Amino acid sequence: MNQEYQNHPASAGVDPRAQPEGPGRFLAGPKAILSVVSRAKCKLGHYDRSPVGSIVEIRDPRCLSPTERSELLRRLTEFNFVIYQTRSNSSKKTDLGFLGLQLGIGRTDHNFCADDDDISSVQVCQQGDRPGYIPYTDRPLGWHTDGYYYGNRSGRVIRSFILHCVTPAPQGGENAFIDPDVVFLLLHEIDESLPVTLSNPSAFTIPPDSGQPVDRQFSRTGPVFSIDSDSRALHMRYTARRHNILWNPDPRITEAAKCLKEVIEQASRYTVTRKLESGQGVICNNVLHRRSGFVNGDSDAAQRLIYRARFYKRVPGTLPPG
Ligand SMILES: [Fe+2]
Repeated sequence: MNQEYQNHPASAGVDPRAQPEGPGRFLAGPKAILSVVSRAKCKLGHYDRSPVGSIVEIRDPRCLSPTERSELLRRLTEFNFVIYQTRSNSSKKTDLGFLGLQLGIGRTDHNFCADDDDISSVQVCQQGDRPGYIPYTDRPLGWHTDGYYYGNRSGRVIRSFILHCVTPAPQGGENAFIDPDVVFLLLHEIDESLPVTLSNPSAFTIPPDSGQPVDRQFSRTGPVFSIDSDSRALHMRYTARRHNILWNPDPRITEAAKCLKEVIEQASRYTVTRKLESGQGVICNNVLHRRSGFVNGDSDAAQRLIYRARFYKRVPGTLPPG
């Protein structure tokens, strides 16, 4: 844990050596499924009552007031994501770590594209290891959840993340978000067997990439949907990409994956699309998200820059009763 974080009051009780929590075990029984479904049904009411994309103002991300914190948790409970706006103009990478600490999600995931402090500077990169990765280009990024390329055995499950916009692109670069609980419900309403089919532990595989660090040099297989056996929270692992992904050839899984793609694309009622402005960010329980392509300006000050921190824990206290 960064020395700076250790001195923050919210770091009390956070074990800096804590290991990633393993993948969830899918509780496939009707009770577990109904629990997710009934929770999602309750959530749909929030889309009528409160504006899902409304912004929570934060005076200082390093020191949330009780009101700010409870407002963030309320939106996370209702939608699994929340958009915030900081009043301060200075965006520091460590702000994301402090936000994570104060929300109880603690330790950040280190992936090889992250900087030394485990927080990624997502921007167009022409050099180094990153140019081959779409997040580090100006191209659009399709629907996905973060960490979909980790498999059953990696022990690494991304359950939440924070994006913070330092500089928006002059043109494009909008993000869109959908709550996986709602997607699970929409699929279940079409055919109750669809989400169960996609919980197959070998639903899709990311093939090995020998040119990458060790954790990507083996194939990684796992389900789309799983339910944490302890919290009973739904976890979704998904990417809409068509290359470098092997869907299980079982015709039922092929059909369910096709249906899932259509459901996500047609869920505009529950989709929030927003271009994050400077000082704005998103905290979420690893919801489905995508990014449109963008065009940077000529000057250094017109280069899109987003900070991203990923965490192994879901934000505690944001699971509605099911
Ligand atoms: Fe992402």
